[in-house]
Amino acid sequence: MRQGVTRRELLAAGLALPFSGVAYAQLTCGELTAPQTEGPFFKTQSPRRVSLLEKDSVGERMILAGVVLSRACKPAANVLLDFWHSDDMGEYDNDGFRYRGHQFSDAEGRFRLETIVPARYPGRTRHLHVKVQAPQKRVLTTQIYFPGDPGNARDPLYRAALAMRKTAGEGRFDFVIDA
Ligand SMILES: [Fe+2]
Repeated sequence: MRQGVTRRELLAAGLALPFSGVAYAQLTCGELTAPQTEGPFFKTQSPRRVSLLEKDSVGERMILAGVVLSRACKPAANVLLDFWHSDDMGEYDNDGFRYRGHQFSDAEGRFRLETIVPARYPGRTRHLHVKVQAPQKRVLTTQIYFPGDPGNARDPLYRAALAMRKTAGEGRFDFVIDA
C-alpha cells in the first residue's frame, strides 16, 4: 500500500469491495522466490549467528533484513536461513566458516543478517547465497543481489527480482517460500 493513504480512502476501498474480507483471505504473495544455483562453495554445519562480522572484518558493513512469507502471505516462523558469501576480496572461506552462518525467522517471520558487503569475483556480480527452509519443507537455494551494482548487467545469473531493496541504509528482501 502506498504511503499517505487516508482512512477515508481505505473506507472507500472497503465499500467498493463488499467481500473484501474474503478477497483478503485469498490474497497471495504471488510467485515463490526464484531458486538459483548453489554454486561450488556451500558448506554444511555453519554456525548459528545473526552477525557474520569478524573482529578483523574490513569490508563495508551491511544489514539485510526482511520477512519470510508463505505463498498465502502468512509470516513463516522458525524458518532456517543459511547465508554464505565471499569476503571483501571476493574469496570464500572453504576451510572455516568466515561469512557463513544460519539463523531462524522469528514468530513474525522476520530475519536480520549483519555482515559485510561481499566483493565481486571473476564472472560474478555482488551477491549473497542463501538456503531457506521452513520446518519439514523443501529447501529453497537462491542468491540475493545488490541493486544498481555495475556488475549486474554483466552477470547472466543476475535477476532483478532477486535484488534487495535499499531502505534507510538497510537492504530489505522478503522471501516467499513453500511454508
Ligand atoms: Fe558466489
